[in-house]
Amino acid sequence: MQGSSANNSALPIEERYHPGKEVYRRLHEESLENPEKFWNEHAGIIEWYRRWEKVLDDSNPPFYRWFVSGKLNLSYNCLDRNIKNHRRNKAAYIWIAEDGTEKIVTYRGLHKRVNVLAAVLRDLGIQKGDRIVIYLPMLLEAPVAMLAAARIGAPFSFVFAGYGASALSERIRDSGAKLVITSDGGFRGGKVVELKKVVDEALQETTSVENVIVVKRTGTEVDMVESRDLWYHDLVADRNDYVEPEVMDSNDPLYILYTSGTTGKPKGVVHGTGGYAVWVANTLEWAFGPTEDDRWWCAADVGWVTGHSYIVFAPLILGLTSIMYEGSIIHPGPDRLWKIVQDYAVNLLYTSPTAIRTLMRYGVQYARMHDLSSLRVLGSVGEPINPAAWQWYYTNIGKDRCPIIDTYWQTETGGFVMAPANGISLPLLKPGSVTFPMPGIDPVIYGEEGAEVKPGEKGYFAIRKPWPGMFLTLNNDPDRFRSAYFDKFNGAYYSGDFAIRDQDGYYWLLGRADEVLNVSGHRLGTIEIEDAIITSEEVAETAVFGKPDPVRGESIVAFVVVKDGFTGDLNLGNAIKGRIRETLGPIYIPHEIHFVSSLPKTRSGKIMRRVVKAVALNQVPGDISTLENSVSVDEIRDAIEEFRKESG
Ligand code: WT7
Repeated sequence: MQGSSANNSALPIEERYHPGKEVYRRLHEESLENPEKFWNEHAGIIEWYRRWEKVLDDSNPPFYRWFVSGKLNLSYNCLDRNIKNHRRNKAAYIWIAEDGTEKIVTYRGLHKRVNVLAAVLRDLGIQKGDRIVIYLPMLLEAPVAMLAAARIGAPFSFVFAGYGASALSERIRDSGAKLVITSDGGFRGGKVVELKKVVDEALQETTSVENVIVVKRTGTEVDMVESRDLWYHDLVADRNDYVEPEVMDSNDPLYILYTSGTTGKPKGVVHGTGGYAVWVANTLEWAFGPTEDDRWWCAADVGWVTGHSYIVFAPLILGLTSIMYEGSIIHPGPDRLWKIVQDYAVNLLYTSPTAIRTLMRYGVQYARMHDLSSLRVLGSVGEPINPAAWQWYYTNIGKDRCPIIDTYWQTETGGFVMAPANGISLPLLKPGSVTFPMPGIDPVIYGEEGAEVKPGEKGYFAIRKPWPGMFLTLNNDPDRFRSAYFDKFNGAYYSGDFAIRDQDGYYWLLGRADEVLNVSGHRLGTIEIEDAIITSEEVAETAVFGKPDPVRGESIVAFVVVKDGFTGDLNLGNAIKGRIRETLGPIYIPHEIHFVSSLPKTRSGKIMRRVVKAVALNQVPGDISTLENSVSVDEIRDAIEEFRKESG
């Protein structure tokens, strides 16, 4: 079996690659030794209006600039370039509604829709450099909006539809958006999720937005604010515009995508145009090796970076046909995902460990209901994939013949940075390892003191050299860009993740090393959740941490101390959860809330979250010599014990 290393472990590592291994090695070596030559060739994946003068400007680290003075437009590369050739009538997207309705949009059709919306945006006064916010569920209008914005050079900020009003308004404020594109709502798991209402609430806290475009999807009643709110279908009716793509500089921003860090304030990750495009298109080719006739299904939400890079930009640049599915993968039954694979003969499936574990839990019988023989490559992203899930995916879904492409990357990296290069030459796989770096990536694992660790030792994952897909900066915060990512290890990009490189040179990404949780592949800041809980008037103090969870990866646990005069009970717990749903959004709702009378603190009054977590998880809390009160520790233990009894 390809996935096992045991029977090969006697061979030197190079011998364990499949035939063609030399190609990967040569390419990776060349990418680091002669980046100029390497990227001059690989930037040809994009059609440029004007060629760059210099591959990389590294004169002002960490503000690296790729393909200096190169000019391009990504809407052009995704659409116009494809309709000039044999892809004119090829499906760009096969969109499947949760109720099974399907819509196929060809490259020509997508070009038309994008041009019309681009013209509408122009008519509403959006110009090059203006920002827009997109707050949409999994509708075709999402890629249309992103591409229309790219066409006119208006950086967009997509806010995932699972965020609540305060999260949305914060992103609108920070990005300074002039316009919001949303929908009345969306369908998920057979239910309606209302979105326009959330926008209305968010806009009460902001001043920059002049217009809201509303896509009609659910038919839910919405309040349309006179002269501010406009129906999408009214705006695009009977139009047939062509909008000349704006000539963008390689280092003009394409989008801002907010993600969680170690403070309460989300980071506005700014991606550029040229380097980003070169990176996402090449990495999709290298990792998955798609062919012209493949059906590609990236089963992520378009509102996350996975969707930006691998539902929208990379597959369209490569001219692929993508499946885009509106709803829940277990609706109306646990075989939904497998049914889509069969019905649309999906060749390349890219999903998350959380999804795999969920489907695994329902059982293999649901996969067996459908013919999965079209599958050729299986991908994974979002968190470390545990060997058991890897094996299940490999054996039961891929029938021992589809490689598992475990891709490690982040919002900041733009595209895959570590993944088996199936499109170049597949290495032997080890379940749970991302194997090797993509060409152009120079990974390094540092110890606490900043020295490289030895093989087999756990350390902090960093990348030594810049790569084209890396973000340009943090919106409105270049200082944080530097301090959060480049100061810790002397100018190298620090990821915030732990990793190990084993004796064979394989990399294993082990999860976050900072105060960031990974819940079902969603990246959530501990402090964000604590900040939201603390705004409840009943709450005096709180400590939030992630608890290992067999399906979600981590679940959110909160310990809460109430103010005098209030009672910490089930009602208050539910009230807090309800408020978090409204403000941060449903993905942030704590799975457990425990009330205690005090929290372990240092003598200087700092809450020791590390101790709370260790005690709650029944681990050794480490050094607690600076602890102010030990009673709190016993209380945490009791609360957990109680909870265990209650939940059986
Ligand atoms: C964090 C980034 C990049 C797309 C989705 C998440 C974790 C992601 C893997 C993987 C181990 C992974 C890391 C990373 N992560 N993929 N294959 N193996 N960990 O993007 O929201 O920016 O989250 O997800 O902890 O730092 P994101």
